[in-house]
Amino acid sequence: MGRTPFIAGNWKMNKTVAEAVELIKELKASFSGVQGVEVAVAPPFTALYAVSKELKDSSICLAAQNLFWEEKGAFTGEISPLMLKGLGCHYVIIGHSERRQYFGETDGTVNRKIKAAMTHGLKPIFCIGETLNEREGGKTFSVIERQIEGGLENLGAKEIEPLVIAYEPVWAIGTGKTATPQEAEEVHRFIREKFVKMYSRPFAESIRIQYGGSVTPENVKGLMSQEDIDGALVGGASLKQETFSKIVRFKEI
Ligand code: PGA
Repeated sequence: MGRTPFIAGNWKMNKTVAEAVELIKELKASFSGVQGVEVAVAPPFTALYAVSKELKDSSICLAAQNLFWEEKGAFTGEISPLMLKGLGCHYVIIGHSERRQYFGETDGTVNRKIKAAMTHGLKPIFCIGETLNEREGGKTFSVIERQIEGGLENLGAKEIEPLVIAYEPVWAIGTGKTATPQEAEEVHRFIREKFVKMYSRPFAESIRIQYGGSVTPENVKGLMSQEDIDGALVGGASLKQETFSKIVRFKEI
């Protein structure tokens, strides 16, 4: 369907500035010549400036892991979309399950963040996914539906055109338990059909849906061979050049 595969590395709360610079230099060198795949890295806020300088002449995109919806003001400890834009960020991860679990993010705050990102020309990587309890209780599809409807409330197809979805089953994140390609595809298909209902078939066919949750060089190929899996959001395996570059080069495996 002409969707360019999109592999993004979420470094989470890892890497000092010096370590981040070392890793991005290695990644730049190992990605030269890779074609037909879009790549992004999401370092912690403290390393964005240094990594951005390293990425000046590179096709690797820069992503932030979060943002606050106001442009400026008395919001101690928060980072605004303007600040991220000024650093050269292209993407911003919004609604990651760790933020929902540990930092009280809700569908409502996710919606405000997505709107703020769009207003400032940052492309959201909008994360959704069910917990183990929800899956075992047969609630996967209703949870996904609620997260999509809440996160995208009052947003039209035109406004969310650059949006990327990351389906990340919470039980698969950092656990080594990946969803099987079939399990993941079932939910990806459901998400695409939801976009058909909310917007239109052409729009739904154009939107990219990444899978996230214990993606490794060993399982990436099987996941990427599914029709509705358009990329990966990679945590643990994105922290080392060897593993992340193998994932980015999944076509060669
Ligand atoms: P993981 O993390 O690859 O370490 O499971 C994925 C994510 O949380 O984005």
